[in-house]
Amino acid sequence: MREALRREAARLILLDRVPLRPESENEEVHTLDLRHAAAVESALAGADRVLHLGGVPDEAPLPDLLEANVLGTHNVLEAARRTGMQRVVLASSNRVTGFYAVGHLTGPQEPARPDGLYGVSKAAVEALGRLYADKFSLSVVCLRIGSFEPMPTEPRHPATWLSPRDAVGYIRAALAAPSSTRFVTAYAVSGNTRRFWVLPDTSELAYAPVDNAETHAADIPGDLPADPAGVQAGHYAEPEFTLRHLRR
Ligand SMILES: NC(=O)c1ccc[n+]([C@@H]2O[C@H](COP(=O)([O-])OP(=O)(O)OC[C@H]3O[C@@H](n4cnc5c(N)ncnc54)[C@H](O)[C@@H]3O)[C@@H](O)[C@H]2O)c1
Repeated sequence: MREALRREAARLILLDRVPLRPESENEEVHTLDLRHAAAVESALAGADRVLHLGGVPDEAPLPDLLEANVLGTHNVLEAARRTGMQRVVLASSNRVTGFYAVGHLTGPQEPARPDGLYGVSKAAVEALGRLYADKFSLSVVCLRIGSFEPMPTEPRHPATWLSPRDAVGYIRAALAAPSSTRFVTAYAVSGNTRRFWVLPDTSELAYAPVDNAETHAADIPGDLPADPAGVQAGHYAEPEFTLRHLRR
């Protein structure tokens, strides 16, 4: 995303708690923690839109997820509200709905069925986005990102793969959506033949994916998810995946 956006943005401001180095004239970097509201707002001064990807990207103890993902997102939304930004794009996850069955083509309007505490934190991220859209008229797009990988390599990937090219396409469309866009939640997934999520309505998010994991199916080791009654999250839905972050 960084490579793609720096070619298009007049100024690209990058925030991370890990130090980054500017890689082009129009890049500006800030080392900060998303939990610190004032630092986030100060770093984003002058930005007209924000792509919020930072946070804990997998199962973890709930306090860590609440701090990085929920409080971190709140701080980004607050900075956007206070500075009058045109667009906020939030990185949600397919894991908000991981307990739906493989055989159920799932759309963004269906109730959340998180497959773990991480999914719960992303449901809260989406709810915060909705709140800021409804209450403060902020323009918010939540992308439920699939499995972002250079190539599909795992048994779930025939359904869940999001290619780098399609990721850039979805995010670019989310950042550039018309100003009339108030709130959208959409799955960001490649056009996989075996996907179990509804592709975005192009009137809401103007991007149609070009890649399909099926092209690489012969290279994916293991059994592909075949049981339509199995859960979409696969092994992420197993109790052990969350139990290791809970007291025994
Ligand atoms: N990679 C995927 O397939 C996938 C799938 C679904 C959703 N997502 C979401 O997309 C986003 C990006 O995922 P990723 O795979 O690139 O994760 P990543 O871990 O590579 O990137 C997250 C970044 O956030 C930074 N960060 C974490 N906590 C922070 C804090 N408190 N303050 C400042 N910076 C902080 C980390 O240093 C890291 O650079 C995440 O929100 C993740 O939940 C990713």
